[in-house]
Amino acid sequence: MPQDIYDRIMMVAKRRGFIYPSFEIYGGIAGFYDYGPLGSQLKNNLENLWRRFFVLHDKCVEISTPTITLYEVLAASGHVEEFTDLTVDCLKCQRSYKVEDIIDKGLSVEQAMNEDNIRCPTCHASLHDAHPVNLMFSTSIGAGDGRKAFLRPETAQGIFTNFHLLYQFNRKKLPFGVVQIGRGYRNEISPRQGTIRQREFSMAEAEIFFDPQDKTHPLFPTVQDKELFLFDNINELKMSVADAVKKKVINNQALAYYMYLTQEFLLQAGVNPKKFRFRKHAADELAHYATECWDAELHSERFGWVECVGIADRSAYDLNAHIVSSSVDMYALRPFDEPKEITTKKIIPKMNVLGPRFGSTAGKIKEQLETLHPSTAKKITVTVDGEPLEIPKECYDIVDVTEKQSGEKFVPHVIEPSFGIDRILYFVLEHNFVEDKKKEEEYTVLRLTPKMAPIKAGVFPLISNEQLIRLARDIDDTIRKHGIETYYDESGTIGRRYARMDEIGTPFCVTVDHDSLSDHRVTVRDRDTTKQERINIDDVASLLKTKLSL
Ligand code: GLY
Repeated sequence: MPQDIYDRIMMVAKRRGFIYPSFEIYGGIAGFYDYGPLGSQLKNNLENLWRRFFVLHDKCVEISTPTITLYEVLAASGHVEEFTDLTVDCLKCQRSYKVEDIIDKGLSVEQAMNEDNIRCPTCHASLHDAHPVNLMFSTSIGAGDGRKAFLRPETAQGIFTNFHLLYQFNRKKLPFGVVQIGRGYRNEISPRQGTIRQREFSMAEAEIFFDPQDKTHPLFPTVQDKELFLFDNINELKMSVADAVKKKVINNQALAYYMYLTQEFLLQAGVNPKKFRFRKHAADELAHYATECWDAELHSERFGWVECVGIADRSAYDLNAHIVSSSVDMYALRPFDEPKEITTKKIIPKMNVLGPRFGSTAGKIKEQLETLHPSTAKKITVTVDGEPLEIPKECYDIVDVTEKQSGEKFVPHVIEPSFGIDRILYFVLEHNFVEDKKKEEEYTVLRLTPKMAPIKAGVFPLISNEQLIRLARDIDDTIRKHGIETYYDESGTIGRRYARMDEIGTPFCVTVDHDSLSDHRVTVRDRDTTKQERINIDDVASLLKTKLSL
């Protein structure tokens, strides 16, 4: 008998095509997992539910950007300097560990290192000299001395680097949100938590841009009376969204609104409300870009409380960083009631220097220089035909220009709900994994919500009879034509077939029997109640649609 619930889930997940360890035929490697046919479908369902919340309901727009990201982007965002784990190497057995993973609970990393008594979990040698190790996978683009790059540690930067274009796309109105679902990469030092800590994983991130003077959300009134499950590191508190903001437990309405949206999403995905909470980050655990952050944590029998979503107030951190680094104008405009005369600094290109120096590209350089913001004009780089070009100071002047302006510029703030899809998927499995200990054989039911279930209906002929098979196959085709995923099965006893469907979370089974040939009716069985109802064959697809809320 495997040890605990994680092992038992992973055994079923592998046997039934949800999750496989990657590269297993070559021995595998920690931190990489494949989704099999049912796992891929479950993941699609989870991501599509997420889109329902963030794209359909919250009206964010979705984009897609490369996973390989230029060094410059991640240097500007602070990831090159700050995206590190404190690591310690064992000089005796040559293994490396993340310090946080091997120190006694309750000790801070600093305390543990100062006390000088941490030991290698493998060979028990004394460990010293903890040092930060960057978690990004690095690569280079092109042959030879190509451009330095990384596999992205978050999808967010692909959104920030397009802010000026997305702001225009949104007709220069705030707030607006942009989402991205895609792969992220972290070269974890020595991951030992199975699917919970992967080195390549799927993220769903939303970056919502706000005027810092107005961190509210148009839908806040619709959620203000709803309850949030909060944990402030001491007490678990249940309080309304409005109270949490009023009592300054949560700093602004926008953050509180997205916390509630996150809670609703997780509950609809099927996580157990009793094993869910929001935990506030203490000041010393905030990421380098965050001013406030709440983690949506889910409880696992094996892993305890696990962060599955981080909802951070990133303030103006990222856009400021990219303005400074790229000199591109990533400001938004707050309109004045009346236009005002304002003096600002501007870059004035000198064509008499640019022309002789850059020849036919001088025109393109001039156009770009005119859009740049001068506060960062120590060293200006423009991109012409995909190639970066450094523009020396003698090619332009920076002058004060007084103009009538219709508004004042500011750098928007960002609220970021960031979801770890693979972790949530694991918890959807764990929280819905029900073992029936009364049955003689091992019997598990995966009580997935109908929206999450990879297969919505099993379709069976009661016995292997030609006429029943023909009718069952026809019904199966009809249901699939209505866009409902089915699994047709004629092998084994009907009990075994129900059991197979229960194990993979299929909410309904449709069985054709002898009477179906004369009364044109079939049996529909409900996974959770095991009750059966007999209905007209012509009504099967519409009944399933209603039951599945499709
Ligand atoms: N974008 C949030 C994170 O990287 O965790």
